[in-house]
Amino acid sequence: MFDILDSKIHKAGEIIKKARHVTAFTGAGISVESGVPPFRGEGGIWEKYDPQVLDLSYFHKNPGKSWITIREIFYNFFGKIEPNDAHIGLAKLEEAGILKAIITQNIDGLHARAGSKIVHELHGTLETLVCTKCGKKIKSRNLTFKALPLYCDVCQGLIKPDFIFFGEALPTATHQKSQEEAENADVFILIGTTGKVMPAALLPHQAKSNNCKIIEINTEPSDFTNSITDIFLKGKATEMTNRLVEKIVEDGWQK
Ligand code: APR
Repeated sequence: MFDILDSKIHKAGEIIKKARHVTAFTGAGISVESGVPPFRGEGGIWEKYDPQVLDLSYFHKNPGKSWITIREIFYNFFGKIEPNDAHIGLAKLEEAGILKAIITQNIDGLHARAGSKIVHELHGTLETLVCTKCGKKIKSRNLTFKALPLYCDVCQGLIKPDFIFFGEALPTATHQKSQEEAENADVFILIGTTGKVMPAALLPHQAKSNNCKIIEINTEPSDFTNSITDIFLKGKATEMTNRLVEKIVEDGWQK
């Protein structure tokens, strides 16, 4: 039985196959099936923890308390999670020359682990830490996170995770490359994001204002769904991405 979802996936596949420049824009929802809790919605991090731990001034005033909570939220699962079919599907589309880049709000590094090469990590990454005084970068995998807070071995400055805290500016070069994607793409595939956090969430709107087709995968409607989304594939990231990739690749379509 060819149901509505099948026809939407068929239509989305046709749009992607005809596209000149496809870009993916992902959020926490794409990693939920890898065991990473989302920030908002059911089982969301901000239901359990106070977002002030990611407020820069609070962090500087309460480094020990902040670091203990940050370790629990982000580093306890770090290194124990694997990419899921949605991350792998996007890597396949890049391999086939269909997907040009991924812009992600996620810091879990799962897109790169899935094999994606062009990944713009708008909100930074768990892979490195940074000294707030001298800017030295430290690889997270070399640390045990036992003695907290962490201080720089060069200048004794307070070390923070290399992902952006609320109110922090996005990494300039990454933000510029992401804005170029929003200028050049003629298809954006949004996966697993509420569209609530600015300025990241302005990018799909910027793309739309350049007549970009918006295909969205989410288990729930987001702030994009009834405003800029052209085709809404309601469902889990793994299932919808698998069906979309099947549709595109099964036609033996490679650029
Ligand atoms: N498949 C697809 N979408 C899912 C799934 C799933 N299995 N599970 C949850 N979602 C969707 C939710 O419906 C929601 O729209 O993923 C989204 C998760 O929302 P958020 O946790 O708010 O994630 P995101 O939009 O990426 O948050 C943006 O907020 O706290 C900051 O910096 C943090 O990058 C984060 C930013």
